[in-house]
Amino acid sequence: MKYKITKLEPFGALIESAMPGLDIGELNIEVIRELFLQEQIVLIRGFQGFANPDDFSKYCEQFGEISIWPFGKVLELVQQDEPLDHIFDNSYVPLHWDGMYRTQVPEYQIFHCVKAPSPGQGGRTIFSNTIKVLENLSQDMRENWKSISGIYKRKMEFYNSKVISPLITRHPYRNFDVIRYNEVHNPDRGKLINIPDISFTGLKEKELVKVFKDLDKLLYNPKNSYAHEWRDADIVIADNFTLLHGREAFKLNAPRHIQRVQVLSNPPFDNPHLETLK
Ligand SMILES: [Fe+2]
Repeated sequence: MKYKITKLEPFGALIESAMPGLDIGELNIEVIRELFLQEQIVLIRGFQGFANPDDFSKYCEQFGEISIWPFGKVLELVQQDEPLDHIFDNSYVPLHWDGMYRTQVPEYQIFHCVKAPSPGQGGRTIFSNTIKVLENLSQDMRENWKSISGIYKRKMEFYNSKVISPLITRHPYRNFDVIRYNEVHNPDRGKLINIPDISFTGLKEKELVKVFKDLDKLLYNPKNSYAHEWRDADIVIADNFTLLHGREAFKLNAPRHIQRVQVLSNPPFDNPHLETLK
């Protein structure tokens, strides 16, 4: 066998090449898709990385229709000298789901690591499995959480949107509930520029404070979340309908370069929570 498949902890699948630099074409797309549906994350490691963004996006097209942004298909996640948004800073990024502020919500997030920070420099991507969080929630807590909706406003280079979303919603195409939450900025995690405007309805302020504490504890609990430490040429495929994701801060000017493509579901999922988009 040219590659082996093992489990990641606490969830996810790792497909590792048996010989360094194996062509990614050796890997059957349907094998990846099946693992994606079962495990929510697939890490593909030890294969030949993509030489340029075009090669990467062409590969991603095999999974479905790519979500197109004003900048094109591939987002270059790299620290900028004078960032206008936390995405392009070296700060942490609060948990969120991709496309929450856009007209369509992608199902697949596909990342390619062009250059990983050195060990100890931070910059792990955090994926929180909301199925796992909900599985172990008491009936009381679930009832409480079900009554909450988030009102999210965010303006950045590519959109200016308002979104109203229940904290717990149904997965658009599968038979289970998921959490949709854009984490409130927590100064304990460090600085953050261009902070989204976030408020909640459904419970009294005091009860909401308790919910945020519980959310923080459960979403980041190592039993429910996978923190991915990048290596050069890693490819990570993550289920954006089920997981929330964020980023750990990293050392200033650490060589962290990740490319990201979003692939839509089939049929594409129109964002049901989008109120306004300017
Ligand atoms: Fe994101």
